[in-house]
Amino acid sequence: MSITFSNQVAIVTGAGNGLGRSHALALAKRGAKVLVNDLGGARDGSGQSLSAAQQVVEEIKAQGGEAICHGANVADYEQVQDMVKLAMDTWGRVDILINNAGILRDKSFTKMSMDDFKLVMDVHLMGSVNCTKAVWDIMREQNYGRIVMTTSSSGMYGNFGQSNYGAAKMAVIGLMNTLVLEGAKNNIKVNALAPTAGTRMTEDLMPENIIKMLAPEFVTPGLLTLCDQDAPNRTILSAGAGGYAVASLYETDGIYLTTEQQTPENIRASWQQLTDTSEQQALLSGVKQSEKFLTKAMAKN
Ligand code: NAI
Repeated sequence: MSITFSNQVAIVTGAGNGLGRSHALALAKRGAKVLVNDLGGARDGSGQSLSAAQQVVEEIKAQGGEAICHGANVADYEQVQDMVKLAMDTWGRVDILINNAGILRDKSFTKMSMDDFKLVMDVHLMGSVNCTKAVWDIMREQNYGRIVMTTSSSGMYGNFGQSNYGAAKMAVIGLMNTLVLEGAKNNIKVNALAPTAGTRMTEDLMPENIIKMLAPEFVTPGLLTLCDQDAPNRTILSAGAGGYAVASLYETDGIYLTTEQQTPENIRASWQQLTDTSEQQALLSGVKQSEKFLTKAMAKN
């Protein structure tokens, strides 16, 4: 069945450029009314202008769609509330939130200033928190919501010079995990996209032919599967250059040690068994970890 967003309202943050622009255009093409958000700053977050967002609105209108723009800084909760109010005043609902806005302030941890660490956390993590908080009760009342976080391989696996960015990108996975549990009874699904794309964020890292292979349009089809009616829940979808994969956190089954056996030497001696992945599981809530250990302990006592 074809995926459609007719009669749905989507907010895409950071949609003036790159991936966000591509997401906004694709959502609109499939029927969504789109609020195109962009602060319009430079790659490092400095400066401000609405023109990129306005241009995307014009492109959407030119392809027959409906769109408006708002220049909220996602790191500022009041501005974000004003953005959501604009969507509500214009269309009366918000079905989809794509938390995409982002900046880079790369430096090795030794050289990184605390200001650069905090700013990146503010835009990626607090930006996602602010936008999600501003639509959360609307989605609960509608009994419908689809939220996509934008994570990164940098957060999941690490990248030299990106301690701030990686920490923020992994933090949105933590946010997703709890919101999935809290949103379930109101049909709110939360997923995460881990893209790799040739945008201004990555353009100086790769040659032109590789940038072409990594066009944002080769990520967006994956994004659309994370926010439609039949979207999965709690899924981290990696996407780029036509490749799609799912990332997940697993925990090994582990070992049980009696009170007397619990020494660091014994834990180290059990390392092979403790790290054996044959029975590893993706745990569906934090409580499952306690349950697993208590079940083992009770079985031995
Ligand atoms: P981009 O720099 O082309 O687009 C980001 C957009 O966000 C820009 O238009 C910028 O003006 C906007 N923005 C920045 N700060 C904002 C704020 N405070 N409020 C509102 N808008 C703001 O970058 P790209 O590559 O399209 O990145 C999109 C998302 O994908 C980001 O979250 C990025 O971290 C993530 N990502 C990108 C990867 C890539 O390979 N390009 C890899 C992994 C993640």
